[in-house]
Amino acid sequence: MPVNSAIKSVHCRRIWDSRGKPTVEVEVILEDGSMGRGIAPSGASRGAAEASEIRDGGKILGGFDVSLALNNINSKISPAMIGMDTTSQREIDSKLIELDPSPTKDKLGGNATIAVSLATLNAAAAYHGLPLWKYIAGGSEVSLPLPEIQIFGGGAHAGRRVDIQDFMIVPLSAETFDQALEITAEIYLTAGQLMSSKGKLAGVADEGGWWPNFQTNEEAIETLVESIEMAGFKPGEEIGISLDVAGSELWENGTYKLTLENKELNSEDLTELFGRWIETYPIVSIEDPFAEDDHDGMKMFTKAYGDRIQIIGDDYLVTNAQKITNSASQGICNAALIKVNQAGTVSEALNALEAAKKAGWGTIISARSGETEDVTLTHLAVGFDAGQLKVGSFSRSERMAKWNEGLRIAEQMGTAVSYIGRKALSSSNG
Ligand code: PGA
Ligand code: ZN
Repeated sequence: MPVNSAIKSVHCRRIWDSRGKPTVEVEVILEDGSMGRGIAPSGASRGAAEASEIRDGGKILGGFDVSLALNNINSKISPAMIGMDTTSQREIDSKLIELDPSPTKDKLGGNATIAVSLATLNAAAAYHGLPLWKYIAGGSEVSLPLPEIQIFGGGAHAGRRVDIQDFMIVPLSAETFDQALEITAEIYLTAGQLMSSKGKLAGVADEGGWWPNFQTNEEAIETLVESIEMAGFKPGEEIGISLDVAGSELWENGTYKLTLENKELNSEDLTELFGRWIETYPIVSIEDPFAEDDHDGMKMFTKAYGDRIQIIGDDYLVTNAQKITNSASQGICNAALIKVNQAGTVSEALNALEAAKKAGWGTIISARSGETEDVTLTHLAVGFDAGQLKVGSFSRSERMAKWNEGLRIAEQMGTAVSYIGRKALSSSNG
């Protein structure tokens, strides 16, 4: 007789993401009837070393269809999963890795493996009758994360209208998660009004941030500072600024091309430019300041500014424990972005998070630019006690669903509710 938490069936289907592109959804049903769902998100500025997405190619749906990935689940993954105990996530993920040992999950597709891995995790929480965050926390004390929230989108998420990809705020003065969202709402709405009054309002970018109708990258940061002040907050003291440069997107033939400003910069020039921004604006965090292959640039920058701001590796580290440990030993970066689908399984993402914590780094659970209504990652941020959460802007339901889930989790925590707040930044920059 199989145990009640054994996997009885694995069902997958094609669903649609926030960009109207197909993606993979998996439902795992257990012997006792419990069900868990997992959905693969999808990035637009992907790291070269992250788990692959298998798409069909060809003309239909721009080549983005996922029938090959679904076939892999039905023909290869599902037969191996049936009968496995869903509460043994490490064993499930090891099985997925055994089925596809390639470092970037090229055989099965990272979009197939992550949907299955997340579905089994959710099924295990359902089996225990617990919210996912609580199941993962397993009795340890955990906190709601400090959010970093995009106000202007840019880069690959806004037709490369400006070079920098994310212009975000970090609500440093908030004392609760709810207050952090309220402050964000004030600033987001004020920024929209400000754009409108300047005749620059032109809708929103991929992750819901205002479309960046700016002449220079600095104009975007200045408008962000102006929005913070207009909303009644003190930049720096109450609200920090966080940038995601997505440096690989600017890297061309050995130089960084800032298209908007018609500049070609080397790593020293770029370090200087970011240094000027750090001196001038209340920047508390920069993600992927340099390209994923520019180790010297990353090292130079961390050496110069790593004690002042959080320096996050996203494409640079691709949620890989080994890369995180190596980077930490070389003094490169002081925080890691954790995107489960970069790793391809929940356990590998957790290994990355643990490697970052062991190095004394900050950790940020992050969504992708292509998302869905799935709220699993808010639970991961709380359950794994990541400290920080990044899911895009403060509009569009695929974003808001994740922020709103944090409010529900706060209520589920009851009197034990705990919000880490600005302390989350101190692990990376003192
Ligand atoms: P994505 O980028 O488009 O690859 O999801 C998001 C990010 O760079 O943080
Ligand atoms: Zn990034």
